Amino acid sequence: MLDHLGQTKRTHNCGELRRENVGQSVTIMGWVNSYRDHGSVLFLHLRDREGITQIVFDEKDNAGLLALAQQMRSEYVIAVTGKCILRDEKNFNPNMTTGEIEIVAEEMKVLNDSQTPPFEIDNCRASEDLRLKYRYLDLRRPEMQQNFKLRHRLALAARRVLDDQGFYEIETPILTKSTPEGARDYLVPSRTSPGKFFALPQSPQLFKQLLMISGYERYFQIARCFRDEDLRADRQPEFTQIDIEMSFVQPDDVFNMIEPLIVEFFKVAGVEPPATPFPRMPYVDAMNRFGSDKPDLRFGMEFIDLNAQFESGAFPVFAEVIKKGGAVKGLLVPGAAAWSRKQYDEIIEHARRYGAGGLAYIQVLEGESKSALTKFLGADGIESVIQAAGAKPGDAILMIGGKWDVTCNALGQVRLEIGRRENLIDENENRLLWVVDFPMFEYHEEDGRWYAMHHPFTSPIDEDINKLEGDNLGEVRAKAYDLVFNGNELGGGSIRIHRSDVQARMFKALGLHEEEAREKFGFFLDALSFGTPPHGGIALGLDRIVMLFAKAKSLRDVIAFPKVASGSDLMTDSPSTVTPEQLAELKIKSLA
Ligand code: AMO
Repeated sequence: MLDHLGQTKRTHNCGELRRENVGQSVTIMGWVNSYRDHGSVLFLHLRDREGITQIVFDEKDNAGLLALAQQMRSEYVIAVTGKCILRDEKNFNPNMTTGEIEIVAEEMKVLNDSQTPPFEIDNCRASEDLRLKYRYLDLRRPEMQQNFKLRHRLALAARRVLDDQGFYEIETPILTKSTPEGARDYLVPSRTSPGKFFALPQSPQLFKQLLMISGYERYFQIARCFRDEDLRADRQPEFTQIDIEMSFVQPDDVFNMIEPLIVEFFKVAGVEPPATPFPRMPYVDAMNRFGSDKPDLRFGMEFIDLNAQFESGAFPVFAEVIKKGGAVKGLLVPGAAAWSRKQYDEIIEHARRYGAGGLAYIQVLEGESKSALTKFLGADGIESVIQAAGAKPGDAILMIGGKWDVTCNALGQVRLEIGRRENLIDENENRLLWVVDFPMFEYHEEDGRWYAMHHPFTSPIDEDINKLEGDNLGEVRAKAYDLVFNGNELGGGSIRIHRSDVQARMFKALGLHEEEAREKFGFFLDALSFGTPPHGGIALGLDRIVMLFAKAKSLRDVIAFPKVASGSDLMTDSPSTVTPEQLAELKIKSLA
């Protein structure tokens, strides 16, 4: 039954025929999406990446061709030549771009058959695991094809805008040395140097800085990065950055460069672009007001500082917190006075999950308000909190007290949860902002050590450089910034350290001994000493950008061949075992 393509040429794709084409003889090719067989006439929907076109096979016109069409099944690949005709008006299909026309088949070639697919392409209700096992079929779905068209166009827009601004696209190695983004490395054993390993890059960070040292001034790369970390909906072990670096710049120059690029992305995605310049918010304000370094500004519910109301000591738990330098913060939730006990319990549980010791609340009512704190604060104390929050009857005030960062983070998560539950987020609104002045370091309780919050090549702000030798590294601020879009971190970057003496002080502050620093980054420290220009840059998460514009729920819907949560690929069934010979060649013994 199968035919050769031969000299048959496609004249149109399956999404382009319109009323204007009526009367033309056309040839289209694609996959059988669906068919309706009425015995003497059969309607077949042919699909390619551009759309779907209806083809009619009628016994009256050609009984033999109808008989052949009746043997077609889903996902067979065919070429059909016929006449484009206008449908009867009552048969117009407004859901198809080609819905006003159809093709009366005159010739058909069956280019390939297909096994019965494990799920319907047209109306897919299969589990994600099944879709990922047959990813090549999943990728045939029109929604997926839209996502990848958008991805292509966004990547192309990035290249266009950056080229216009004088950036060179330069590739950097995939087999390299460990790069410092704070995740675990993927290692690749070397056959020629037994016992030695390459690391896959967590980002091109050091290479792009080296390119600045080499005088390239403006670099970009659509770069693949690899991080062996726990996956979430917005993280993949292998992902893509639009990686950018510039010489002789301050943060403002980076912002002025990136904002038009983001505006271009909005235009490409067909979404009303945001006004520029994007607002900026210091990290401390973002935490104090929204409890997040990536605040979602599509709804309000800013925190209320309640230290003044609780420091007097009537409620000992909070008073103690304040005495120890912690914070008591509140959230005014309109309408929440009417919440059930269960609703409160769920929110308290949510706060606990993010580290809060607990969550107290006041249900603000006409007359006397209700709160477990009344017995400590008395009616006047409760009233002063209500006043501070500006609450009205019907509202509730939720309060958390504890260490500043824990309190902010937990209440920030409560804010987001309430935003979701109460539908406070307008999905059509788009809010961008720069979060700036990040702390240089963060302290990890687990191992009692300071870590670089971005990475150790980030420059401290000039006034804080001398604090590198001080006893509170928490005070050192960095020339680091993140770009935040509706509560998602789209990108992050910084102005870098460009002097080898400052870089050495930074490593020292991080507890990295000189020999260790030399072993890990010796090549880079050497390079810094050969006339390094001041420089800085940013990396935007391309996958995240596509996901947000495509309104996809997961990065997996915008990465052609993604990994699942366990870090494996269900289609190729990798990672997989290798032969003993391969391991022997690498001088490796598996302990698994
Ligand atoms: P950073 O680690 O912040 O910075 O990464 C930049 C952006 O990359 C995206 N991203 C991810 N996307 C998907 N899956 C992941 N696992 C993942 N990790 C990060 C995010 C993030 O904002 N070298 C620095 C950049 C610089 O300083 O110029 C870096 O990699 O959108």
